[in-house]
Amino acid sequence: MGVFGRNHARVYKELEQQGEPVRLLAVVDADSNRAETVAREFACEAFASVGQMLAKHPGLKAASVAVPTLHHLAVASELMQAGVDVLIEKPLAATLAEAEELVALATAHERVAQVGHLERFNPAVRATLPLLTHPMFFEVHRLSVFTPRSLDVDVVLDLMIHDLDIVLAFAGSPVKEVRAVGLPILSGKVDIANVRLELESGCVANFTASRVSTERVRKLRFFQPRQYVSLDYGRQEVLVFTVGQDGTSSADMAGMPSVNPQIGVTKPPVASEEPLHAELKSFLRSVRERSAPEVPLEDGRRALALALEIVAAIRDHGKRVGLAGIAHRR
Ligand SMILES: NC(=O)c1ccc[n+]([C@@H]2O[C@H](COP(=O)([O-])OP(=O)(O)OC[C@H]3O[C@@H](n4cnc5c(N)ncnc54)[C@H](O)[C@@H]3O)[C@@H](O)[C@H]2O)c1
Repeated sequence: MGVFGRNHARVYKELEQQGEPVRLLAVVDADSNRAETVAREFACEAFASVGQMLAKHPGLKAASVAVPTLHHLAVASELMQAGVDVLIEKPLAATLAEAEELVALATAHERVAQVGHLERFNPAVRATLPLLTHPMFFEVHRLSVFTPRSLDVDVVLDLMIHDLDIVLAFAGSPVKEVRAVGLPILSGKVDIANVRLELESGCVANFTASRVSTERVRKLRFFQPRQYVSLDYGRQEVLVFTVGQDGTSSADMAGMPSVNPQIGVTKPPVASEEPLHAELKSFLRSVRERSAPEVPLEDGRRALALALEIVAAIRDHGKRVGLAGIAHRR
């Protein structure tokens, strides 16, 4: 029930107030002051452990797990073993073995188990899905200013994993080759990274993620035959540039640089919604209907496997160029 867990509590409470069939029963934090503060804010009970909560509420149906990644397995397994459906924050786990254990536990206990890859529920991402034809080149930037949070993992597992998941979902092709460079700047882990992936389909994807930037940027752009699509996660906006198609000529679009009158620019409608709101609504629907979650744990395992491969590639690169001792202390 840290910073992000409080957001989950807030949104569950909002859904309850909006008439969704859900009731926020309790929040749990090992730091009981923290749990009590959040419980007061959202009018629910506070507990210092999952065990205490389950003892009081054995019929609890669903829970979000938003503890530090290193504790996802312990907390989520206790909940699933008690028959509770779970939404586990990203990254799914700290290691692939832990992620696989979570996938196996969800199957064994027949739990609805979703991973918190929030950007899947970003309305700009949803508006982009029907536009996908044959993406061949992605350029992705996710830059944040430094905050002393989530420093238990590299920036690849903290931030870039959002975009790895989206590109894997958009491109629908396995990864063939990984090239990566990364450096610790303000923490003991990698704070800035640049990655080039080549997929089996021939698609190439470049990613830059930083948590030591002076500005906040959340952009994904891709090219596919005769088309360029620019998605801004933060502004929840999509721009589509198509050669030889009707649309506003790029020369006419307010604030847009004049490119070529033969290139039509369209801005698909995006119904603005807080992604966490859409994510939790979708999770609760799966819980009620006993249906497969929109983003199953397996997708979290896949994104984590790639993120860990990237972390290893960064370490290899560091060794190759003589940065190992200085820059990649663990
Ligand atoms: N989806 C997103 O966009 C997004 C954004 C931020 C964080 N996250 C994820 O959410 C998780 C939490 O991140 P955060 O930034 O809120 O962390 P945080 O450090 O602010 O909070 C973690 C809280 O968990 C508590 N805690 C630790 N172990 C516990 C345990 N065993 N039982 C109960 N409470 C325990 C701590 O006391 C702390 O209050 C991480 O996995 C992170 O990657 C996801």
